Amino acid sequence: MAHTHSFTLPTPFPRPFRARVAPPEGLRPSEWLSQGLELTPGMRVLDLGCGKVLSSIFLAKEFGVTVWAADYWIKPNENMERIEQAGLSASVSPLSVEAHALPFSERSFDAIVSFDAYHYFGTDDLYLGYISSFLKLGGRLGIVVPGTREELSVIPPPHVARYWVWDFCSFHSSSWWRRHWEKTALLEVETADTLTDGWKRWLEWNELCAQFGQQNLAHLAHREAEMLRVDDGRTFGFTRPIAKTGKRLIPCKRWATVSPPSFSQGGSPIRAISGSKILHVRFLAGRLHPFEPTLHRPH
Ligand SMILES: C[S@@+](CC[C@H](N)C(=O)[O-])C[C@H]1O[C@@H](n2cnc3c(N)ncnc32)[C@H](O)[C@@H]1O
Repeated sequence: MAHTHSFTLPTPFPRPFRARVAPPEGLRPSEWLSQGLELTPGMRVLDLGCGKVLSSIFLAKEFGVTVWAADYWIKPNENMERIEQAGLSASVSPLSVEAHALPFSERSFDAIVSFDAYHYFGTDDLYLGYISSFLKLGGRLGIVVPGTREELSVIPPPHVARYWVWDFCSFHSSSWWRRHWEKTALLEVETADTLTDGWKRWLEWNELCAQFGQQNLAHLAHREAEMLRVDDGRTFGFTRPIAKTGKRLIPCKRWATVSPPSFSQGGSPIRAISGSKILHVRFLAGRLHPFEPTLHRPH
């Protein structure tokens, strides 16, 4: 998955794609995640890293929720076409955002979801403090990410060493994600598990990308598919942590944890939006303590 995100599938998707992403014997990641979210009509949901907006459309259609479909690489006008085709322009709003500079007020959402995207930014220890401040009390953060069945003790695992790429290091086990979130005491982790046969969905995705995606990248999809076949479900799968905000209010501070690509001028201030306030945040070697008082100078 990590290496196929830039594949472009034709729109509308060809029949084999529809048939194969929703096989009768298996759940799609979006269905699997939504089972743990208790979504009800009218809820406000942020779909972070929504890509081509399929999950946002699914959630709005299935649950009647209002979705903010936010992504960094896929432009909102492209997503708007798909949303209009689905007849959901009143309930799904596409946005161009970077995950560290979200243009929302604190406690805006009943749920924040992310499919196959959170591992690009959320493995940083400080990110949970940032993202969870956008949840209402009782709101849930739920993600599905490519991961490992157990935390890897040997990297790369010898049987897939020839296919390994360094950024697979962002794949973690469900117990890693549980601890990653629980240690902050900001949220109560309700679920952290692995999708049964999730690796087969992952393999199917790569096969589809190889067949229908950008042909100059097809070799990467072939390679990742081959790795998943060799692994045969021993190592890789989809991981689903879901957590809920407790009674305690999360501190409404804004800070940046890593330098996003477009802002990566070392040492220069960037702006992070906090409700109606704009705060200047200084990057120091890409990592800051959230409660450092000098960070929170109103503009
Ligand atoms: C593998 S795609 C998954 C897209 C979609 N959620 C899905 O399941 O098909 C990962 C997405 O994460 C988004 N992404 C990666 N880093 C991001 C960041 N820092 N801020 C916002 N979106 C990001 C990319 O734009 C990309 O569309």
